[in-house]
Amino acid sequence: MSGPERGTAFVERLTARRPVPDPGGAAPSPADLERILAAATTVPDHGRLRPWRFVVVEGAGRDRLARALVAGLTELRGPDQSGAAVAKMDKKAYAAPCAVLVVASPDPGASVAVWEQVASAACTAYALVLAATGLGYGAVWKSAAVLGTGPVRELAGCGPDEQLLGWVYLGTPPAGRTARRAPAGDPLEGRVTRLGG
Ligand SMILES: Cc1cc2nc3c(=O)[nH]c(=O)nc-3n(C[C@H](O)[C@H](O)[C@H](O)COP(=O)(O)O)c2cc1C
Repeated sequence: MSGPERGTAFVERLTARRPVPDPGGAAPSPADLERILAAATTVPDHGRLRPWRFVVVEGAGRDRLARALVAGLTELRGPDQSGAAVAKMDKKAYAAPCAVLVVASPDPGASVAVWEQVASAACTAYALVLAATGLGYGAVWKSAAVLGTGPVRELAGCGPDEQLLGWVYLGTPPAGRTARRAPAGDPLEGRVTRLGG
């Protein structure tokens, strides 16, 4: 395959990629997880501040995540939650064999604006999805209303300037799963302003 063909194949793959909503199956191998995490750190990073951290949740770590999510629900909405609401929150911890919490760790004292640093950290979450997909895993970026609550922030070891940007589920897509289609219509409609010729 020539260089330009490889480039076209890359863009086609990027465009065709769809998230895997609940990627069960096997977690990435330790070596693949390292590759995925390392790939995620190649994002644009103004000032090379590396304003991100990852918390890898696997195995029994999922029980800790479940407890933090449910405690976060209580903090957010009060103690009188229905069993269904608690079960729904608890279930999030077990939707995949591995979840990578993405933490933005901006340095407010840096000359680079905090929003730029958070944007850079957000890029790592998408890069996690892309790298995992490239290695044949299923991945999706998720969040929950409880991300900003004490128990969830504590689980992730968040300092005062840090912000949880959600988590990326990693797993293996079910065999024979047919890829979801991209949304219909022109993806650029109303989204591009062209200045000049
Ligand atoms: C910060 C962030 C948080 C997200 N949280 C969720 C979520 O909690 N639940 C969800 O279904 N999708 C969430 N998404 C969107 C998914 O990552 C994915 O894009 C979505 O499921 C669209 O997939 P589809 O177009 O193939 O249907 C989030 C995306 C971002 C950027």
